[in-house]
Amino acid sequence: MSLFLVKQASRAKGGIALLGDKSIASRSVIISALSQGKTTIKNFPPNEDCLYAVKTFRKLGIKIIQNKNAGRITVYGKGLYGLRKPKGPIFTGDSGTVFRLTLGVLAGQDFPVTLTAGKSLSQRPMLRVTSPLRMMGAVIKSKKQKSKSEEYPPVTVKGACLNSIIYKMPVASAQVKSSILLAGLYAKGQTCVIEPIKTRDHTERMLKLFRAGIQTKAGKIIIKGRRGLISPGEFSIPGDISSAAFFMVLGAILPNSRILMKGVNLNSSRTGILDVLKRMGLDIEIRKPKSKNRIYEPMGDLIIRSSRLKGTIVKKEEVPVLIDELPILMVAACFAEGKSVFEGISELRVKETDRAESMTQNLAKMGADIKVLKTPKSEKIIIQGCNPLRGASVRSFGDHRTAMSMVVAGLAAKGVTRIDDVTCINKSFPNFLSLLKSIIR
Ligand code: S3P
Repeated sequence: MSLFLVKQASRAKGGIALLGDKSIASRSVIISALSQGKTTIKNFPPNEDCLYAVKTFRKLGIKIIQNKNAGRITVYGKGLYGLRKPKGPIFTGDSGTVFRLTLGVLAGQDFPVTLTAGKSLSQRPMLRVTSPLRMMGAVIKSKKQKSKSEEYPPVTVKGACLNSIIYKMPVASAQVKSSILLAGLYAKGQTCVIEPIKTRDHTERMLKLFRAGIQTKAGKIIIKGRRGLISPGEFSIPGDISSAAFFMVLGAILPNSRILMKGVNLNSSRTGILDVLKRMGLDIEIRKPKSKNRIYEPMGDLIIRSSRLKGTIVKKEEVPVLIDELPILMVAACFAEGKSVFEGISELRVKETDRAESMTQNLAKMGADIKVLKTPKSEKIIIQGCNPLRGASVRSFGDHRTAMSMVVAGLAAKGVTRIDDVTCINKSFPNFLSLLKSIIR
């Protein structure tokens, strides 16, 4: 671990190309592996989480060739029933997406597999996926914590002949929804997931691209089981909007700045960050391609300029479409005029770390007026903005999004900010610091 120093910057200017979206890329490996035929995936991000998706499916007998220089991988799919029993447990690193989605796939296999996880993922809740998968007939053993009536990795799934279910999701989670839909590929009949609040829909879009029997309507997703997937041959992963978020806020809070980001994913189940920042007064230009060609994920170019931000209220219902952006939005709120409120933040506590706690501690150390308000039913974070931040010694807590948020806060704060460890950034955005260096002055 080495201390990382951030000095106040005067402006940010230039263009950057972002690596492919982490959520879409993880799904692309899984779904390609289950399809018939070869799939070439361009702009595949070489971050730790996505590389664990590759490693996991290689252990399940899938040939995957990575061309690092060209930024693409080729997956040799073997169809729904082509996976092989691995030699031992599979370590999935700290990727919640890889762990939970793979559990759904394993539920439909005719061999048992144990998935193990890194330190942070081993403390994240799994009952939200094991419970519906058991309803479908999977036999699952996991580490239990009775005091919390919760389950954690490692998880062993003994696959089974699955039944279809109708499942109303108690938590708004795309990982849970996706795990059930992937298990649904193996179930007899039609599996239906009902989402009270919309979450990212990359799995549905990608399954459509691979010609699965899937329908989505008014909060309901229905998937036909035991129907093969057909590879489209080749596609490209759009730029990661969660990574773009750090540059949106940086460009907004530094004076005299202009940042161009090309080919960013603009799926409406992910653009909550844009809606909130626009409400806060972000100076942004969005250029969408004119072509009417239907692509599986919408994308466009973004131009961000320095902005005078004002506080806003982020409602509980908005949280699922911007959950990963809450840490950097809290930084934006510190530089906005007036009060910002982030409601319904309980899911923030079960991410790689408890981000409500880590961001509150760090921003308070930099002089922010930030507090958590807890009621028996929910909790919210309140930030009174425009208290100029000053450099301080802060911690990433080993969490990539906290680390990047603190780098951005440090670049706009007076003086020097010391961050204990930034290597965790590799989990999602390995070239974050080099892109940043190319545009800050
Ligand atoms: C993800 C869904 C979200 C998000 C995570 C990636 C996905 O998690 O926080 O970073 O790829 O489906 P939840 O489903 O737990 O909300």
